[in-house]
Formats: sequence, C-alpha cells, structure tokens
Amino acid sequence: MTDQNKLQNLKTVLKKYGQGHILAFWDRLDPAMQGRLLAQIAQMDFAQLDRWREEFVLTASPFKLPDKLAPAPFYHNQPSDAGQRAKYDQARQFGDKLISQGKVAAFVVAGGQGTRLGFDGPKGNFPISPIKNKTLFQIFAEGISVACKKYKTNCPWYVMTSPLNHQPTLDIFSASNYYGLNKNDIFIFQQGTLPNFSLDGKILLSDIDTIATSPDGHGGSLRALYNSGALADMQKRGIEFVSYYQVDNPLINIFDPLFIGLHALDKAEMSSKALSKTGPFEKLGNFCLADDKVSVIEYSDLPNDLAEKTNPDGSLAFELGSIAIHIISVSFVERLNSHGFSLPLHRAVKKIPYVSDDGKRVEPKEPNGVKLESFVFDALPLAKKSIILQTIRSEEFGPAKNATGVDSAQSARQMMVDRAASWLESAGVKVPRKADGSPDCVIEISPGFALT
Ligand code: UTP
Repeated sequence: MTDQNKLQNLKTVLKKYGQGHILAFWDRLDPAMQGRLLAQIAQMDFAQLDRWREEFVLTASPFKLPDKLAPAPFYHNQPSDAGQRAKYDQARQFGDKLISQGKVAAFVVAGGQGTRLGFDGPKGNFPISPIKNKTLFQIFAEGISVACKKYKTNCPWYVMTSPLNHQPTLDIFSASNYYGLNKNDIFIFQQGTLPNFSLDGKILLSDIDTIATSPDGHGGSLRALYNSGALADMQKRGIEFVSYYQVDNPLINIFDPLFIGLHALDKAEMSSKALSKTGPFEKLGNFCLADDKVSVIEYSDLPNDLAEKTNPDGSLAFELGSIAIHIISVSFVERLNSHGFSLPLHRAVKKIPYVSDDGKRVEPKEPNGVKLESFVFDALPLAKKSIILQTIRSEEFGPAKNATGVDSAQSARQMMVDRAASWLESAGVKVPRKADGSPDCVIEISPGFALT
C-alpha cells in the first residue's frame, strides 16, 4: 500500500470515530513531525477509545452501590488473643525469611503530576526531612539500604515514572549517585498514558503534531510493570512480592515483615494497609466487602447513612480508610496481564492546554476537558484473596500532597518530628514537650539509624 493510501485509510478510521481533526494540520507538518504524530496514533486503539469516550468522557456515570455491601474484615494492629498473637509471630518470622531470601522488592509510584504540592520537578526530589532536608527519594533509599544490611540481601527498588518526569527522575538518581544503592538494583520505568478529551469527546491536540496525553493513573502501574520489563526483571531475580507505596509518604515502612508475612501466609494476591478513619467523612477510600470481594469505595461514593453507621460499641461500621500501601504478588501481576484485564476509568475535568482549530495554542482559564485514569485499588476485587492490616497513622502515613495545611509537606514534616519524639521516648530519652503535648523541639532520626 502506498503512503498516500495508508494516510487515506487512517483518515477514514479517525473520521469513523469522530476524531478526524487529529490530522487537521497534516499538510503543515514536516516529515519528522508527521512521523511523530503517526507513531503516537499507532499506539492508540481507537475502537477502545471510542467506548471509553461514550462511557467515561461524555457522561459521568453515577456510582452503583454493590448489591451486597459490608465492612471488610481486617487484621487489627495488635493481635486480639493468644491464637492471633501466635499467627502474628509466625507471620513476622515468615516475612523476615522472605525478605532475607531476597523475595521482596520496593515499588514506588512516582508518575503523578504533583500539582497540589506545587513543586518544580519530580515529587520524589522534594526536600521533606525536618532538619537535613533530605528528599523523599533519599529517605526511601536509606530505608531500602538499611533493609539490605539488616537482612543481608538485595532489596531491589522499582520506580515508576511517567513521560512528565521520567528524564528528570533519571537525572536526579544519577546525580545523587543512586543514593549509595547499587545502580543495578534500581529499575526506573515509565507508565502508560491516555489521551485527553474535550468535554464533547474530541481527542485534544497539545500541538499541531502532538496528541495531548496524561499518565494513566497509579492503576496503570499494574500494566506498566509488565510492559516495561520490570516484572520480567523481578521474575529473573526471584522476587515474589512487591511492596507498593506512593512517592509522597515519607513515613512509609517499606519492608514490614508482619504485613508481608500475613499476605504470604494467607496466600493473598494483593493486600492493603488501612487506617481507622478520624471520622465518617475523612477523605479516604473505604474498605468494604462488595459482593464478597475486598474493594475500596471512594469517600464521595459511600452514602452518608453508611458512612455514619456505627457498631454497638459506637465505632464506625465502615471504619477503615485506604492509604495506598499494598503488598502485591508478582504472580498476580503476571496473571492479570497474561489474561487481559482492565480497571475502570475515572474521569477528572481539568484545564487542559490545547491547540484550537486555527492551530493556536490555548491555555484555558476554566476546565475544558477530561483526563482519564485508573486507580490501583480497583485491582483488589480481581485478587483471589486479599487481606487488610490495620496500622497506626502516626507511624506510617503522612502524605505530602499540598504545600501547607492538611496532608501537606508541613504536616508530614511535623509527623516525622512527632514520630521521632515518640521513638526516642520509648527508648528512654526525655523529649521536651509543649503544654499541648507536641514536641518542643525539632528532631530528625535517620532511617538508617531508626530501622537497625
Ligand atoms: P495523587 O493522586 O496524589 O496525584 O497520586 P499526584 O499527581 O501525585 O498529585 P496531584 O493530584 O497532581 O496534586 C498518588 C500517587 O500516585 C502516583 C503519584 O506519583 C503519587 O505517588 N501516581 C499518580 C502515578 O504514579 N501515576 C499517575 O498517573 C498518578
């Protein structure tokens, strides 16, 4: 087929799906620009995109509550009786063994835009520690390094980026000499993207030769692990479990033998840590049993009467919130990808810069389009077995989403100080405290010291 015929065919396909405008500037493009646009188009399945356009872009389909809904069962932070104590001990030992055998890897998802934090560059490079200004990446690296020493093994680190920050992330790791870790044990890979749509379902162009895209959400990690070769790398190394966490949580305990051990003993495929919510409407996803499957229902989707429902002892029935900390079995990721899977897409209406019909770039002042993304917790119901371990907020969850206020760099820093103070006190050190009980000092404990 001649190039002319191929172009004609492509035009026909795009027109069929109402996306003919993608080639509107074709005649103005030089061969290199044409090649770039064609390469982008070749990666897209327009029939699939058209279904998504109908289902997620043009309409915001109302959330349907599952027919059968109950709070999800969970392991309490502390064992409740002797039988459970024995199980926790066994799990801790098993977790220790699995880490020592090099079967557990760290996996941070760092492909997001980090708009709320308003930091220039990859979020992982944000200086977070209260005194030494260590970056998030540095803190994780120190945690991994100490686990390698403690368990006398290799703990590889998988880092997911997106086209928004891939090269800068590579540069940061290289400039920091991989934070003293072995370069060969760090695998940095990119997640996929999805095109952005106008509110009436047209795929937007960000330039006359470029389709506007954005990262496909943290749920994209499950496919990206497979497509990037990270999963194959894990299998080659004998990794069986990945410890999944988000780049903005400096309090993460990446190698937790209890969590890993419970997951493995119970033969779970994907497990979660959870917090007891501060109130019925705390903005965390709710752990539920939806049609007998462990699932997360977003706070905005859980009806008020269920959110406020209480147990006889007054505690919330739907007590547990999701904090995006998971153990995921490598075999689960393999199973999902080799059998074809899809996670539901979530729509977000945003301001998306685009090229208008006359070829001029527009920076919209109001939301003008839809970005689609998938969420990793939507994979939980696909797991044959999924367990939940309750954890303590002050020990493990201080997300730096915003610059100030709730869930901010400021609050995360304060939580780092609070945690360090309580660690010191439990080791018998006197910490000065203010009248309200908060530490009257700034403390930073290096992960390398704390975890040994
Ligand atoms: P958030 O939902 O907090 O989004 O991501 P964000 O992009 O970091 O920040 P905002 O909303 O623009 O302010 C939670 C975690 O998921 C990762 C982020 O890097 C963060 O660790 N993530 C999110 C990805 O890796 N890829 C994505 O496409 C989206």
